[in-house]
This record gives sequence, C-alpha cells and structure tokens, in this order.
Amino acid sequence: MKRYIIAGNWKMYQNLLEMTSFFNTIKSNLNKISNPHITKIICPVFPLLQKAIDISNGSEIFIGAQNVSQHDKGAFTGEVSANILKSINTPYCIIGHSERRQYFNENEETIRLKWMQLRAESINPIICIGETLEQRENGETFSVIESQLKGIFSDMDIDTQEDLLVAYEPVWAIGTGKTATPEMAQEVHAFIRKTLKSFYGDKAVKIPLLYGGSVKPNNIKDLLMQNDIDGALVGGASLIVDNYIEMITIAGELL
Ligand code: PGA
Repeated sequence: MKRYIIAGNWKMYQNLLEMTSFFNTIKSNLNKISNPHITKIICPVFPLLQKAIDISNGSEIFIGAQNVSQHDKGAFTGEVSANILKSINTPYCIIGHSERRQYFNENEETIRLKWMQLRAESINPIICIGETLEQRENGETFSVIESQLKGIFSDMDIDTQEDLLVAYEPVWAIGTGKTATPEMAQEVHAFIRKTLKSFYGDKAVKIPLLYGGSVKPNNIKDLLMQNDIDGALVGGASLIVDNYIEMITIAGELL
C-alpha cells in the first residue's frame, strides 16, 4: 500500500498563539485528516518545538525541526544540537533547505555532518536538494541533482531503522507561486530514484521522495499522482490550517 507524507515547513512564521489555534482546528477536524497511510509532519520554529510536541498529542501530526547544528555540543551560540532535539523527542528534522544553503552557506558537506548528528540521536532527516533557476536554464538540472546526491550520500549507509526522506525542491519554485509541472517534477524524481538506486540498490525504493515548491491544494493532486512522488514539503500553504487539512484530504482520496 502506498504511503504519502505531507510535511509543513513553517519557516520563521507562526507564533505561539497562531500555532495553538492551528492545532486546535486540526484536533476538531481529526475525522478529515485521520489516515494511518499519510504521515503528517509540521516543522515550527525552535522555541515552539516542545509546546508543539505537547499540543499535537492526539492529532496524528509529528513534529519536526527546521535545522540542527553540525556539532554535537559546545560554544556555538544560537545553535541547537541533535541531542537537545532528542531530549524533547523531536522525531523529524529538515536539513539542507535551500534557504539554509542560500543565506547560511550550507552545502553538501554540512548536510552530511548534520545528518550524522541526527542519526546518532535517531532523529529522521528530511534532506533537501534542488537546482536554481539559473542552473535549470543552463540545462544543468540533472548534473546539479546528481552532484548534490553524491555529495550527501556517497559512503553513507542506509539505516533501515531510519525514516529517511528526500525532498526535491527546485529553488525557483519555492515561495514564488511557480510550481514545477507534475511532469517536470516526476522527471527529476525518477532521476533521483535511479541515482539513489545506483548507491543503495533496492533499498532505495523505500526512500520516500517529497516534492516541494509552491505546493497548494489546487496542484497537490496532480503532483501526488506521479509515480515517484511520495509526498510534499509545503511552505506557505501549510500555514493556513484549512489548506493543510485540504491537502491531506486530497492525498487520502488518492490512496
Ligand atoms: P513554499 O515553500 O511551499 O512556500 O514554496 C516550500 C519550502 O520551502 O519547503
């Protein structure tokens, strides 16, 4: 049976009041979102993680962090370690989001280090990759994706206990309202699957591939219907609770 993952990346939005109201609405609409074959994840800002974990209890929603330090501990002001995330039982963490790459100089090497930190604490990573508009226009999409995958995955074993997720997010589609067409997304997802298979053989078939970049209730269905798209990483549309519920309902109808 197919499984879908609908993950919301809240970025630097949603304060405590807004988050509380979001989860209250989710809880009163549980009949619409309840589905054991859809993994639902919401990633709020660090200071709200503990509260999110508490108030999401009973909502079927898992909580994820948006980032983690590449170091295990130490004098790194403003950073948060995987061990600290684990101490409040955070089950998921996004790493390598394009905004982290763009504004905080993250690259494949830092993503690898962060993944190793998460792995040491048994936190499931959501690893982001994707090309910029310039790279796409230069016909470099596949070579960029391949080199990102090699940089992150080569020599890393897959741990079967880990719920490892890979998100393809074309940078030009994030927050721009421009979504890759389902065919464009599928083409890259099939390439990611093939590349991961070349590293891990059949084990790679189990790695869910999420598409991200201006996913909304009105385009999620066609994206999820593609063979190699197993879910979505949603920014803007995940902030509006009705949109999030609608996207989960749509995914449920496809199962
Ligand atoms: P968006 O963001 O849905 O607002 O384009 C996606 C993301 O950055 O994960």
